[in-house]
Amino acid sequence: MSRIAYVNGRYLPARSATVHIEDRGYQFSDGVYEVCEVRGGAIVDQQRHMARLERSLAELRIRMPMSAGALAVVMRECVRRNRVREGIIYLQITRGVARRDHAFPPAGTAPSVVVTARTLDFAGNERTAAEGIAVVTVPDNRWERVDIKSISLLPNVLAKQAAREQGAKEAWFVDRDGHVTEGSSSNAWIVTKDGKVVTRPADRGILRGITRTVLLDVIKAQGLELEERAFTAEEAYGAREAFVTSASQIVMPVVRIDDRPVGNGAPGLVATTLRAEFHRHAELS
Ligand code: PDD
Repeated sequence: MSRIAYVNGRYLPARSATVHIEDRGYQFSDGVYEVCEVRGGAIVDQQRHMARLERSLAELRIRMPMSAGALAVVMRECVRRNRVREGIIYLQITRGVARRDHAFPPAGTAPSVVVTARTLDFAGNERTAAEGIAVVTVPDNRWERVDIKSISLLPNVLAKQAAREQGAKEAWFVDRDGHVTEGSSSNAWIVTKDGKVVTRPADRGILRGITRTVLLDVIKAQGLELEERAFTAEEAYGAREAFVTSASQIVMPVVRIDDRPVGNGAPGLVATTLRAEFHRHAELS
């Protein structure tokens, strides 16, 4: 079965789906994106993802290309046409096609929309979660507006590659003060020796992850104590547990940071429990 992509109003076989060479996403990374989990054929937390998408667009002054309702229909159709049961949807909106000029194109330039959906290796992800992943730390050299889910991801690409070359699955960015901000494509968490769950506040320096937001509810429901504050790499080395969150990984235990074992070097009880409980709190549509 060939994969189907939605591109500017049409559903096309992915191999023949194309965008214009003067698309501003291609030339300037002038666009935003969202990734939603698909579980049992349903879209997880779609409304929250749509709300964040609209915020990212508004911050960059790109207009919504269609109503949120119409976009929801397109997303559902991409899941259906690609027969995705367990996987992800990728949605990208750019400022559209115009002759190359850094300043905004003429008013009325239509934003470009691409939606794809694909199956993930569900069993493989579960095996990875049972083992836990390694992370490495890298300096956070990104711009200040990482709260916008922009497609400008060059520092994230380089960080993830650095992790891969060191045998790790994720890189944690560390700011100038020595505090961990977030992962290259995930939010970062630790559990302290006295059982407090710690993650950086989402006011600046990180993307407000949808998984993170839902997990705050799960943490409360589990009666766990939460501390929203910055933590250093040193503190993470000595933590009882660590984990990352994202739409594609949900809660993924971290068992090594910069080649030091976290806790006893195996996935911890808090991370494992939060992973198991997550979908009781997420919304399906
Ligand atoms: N990444 N921080 C960064 C830098 C991210 O790229 C992501 C998501 C997150 C977690 O956000 P959420 O829980 O809403 O997925 C945090 C997506 C999955 C990606 O780039 O593929």
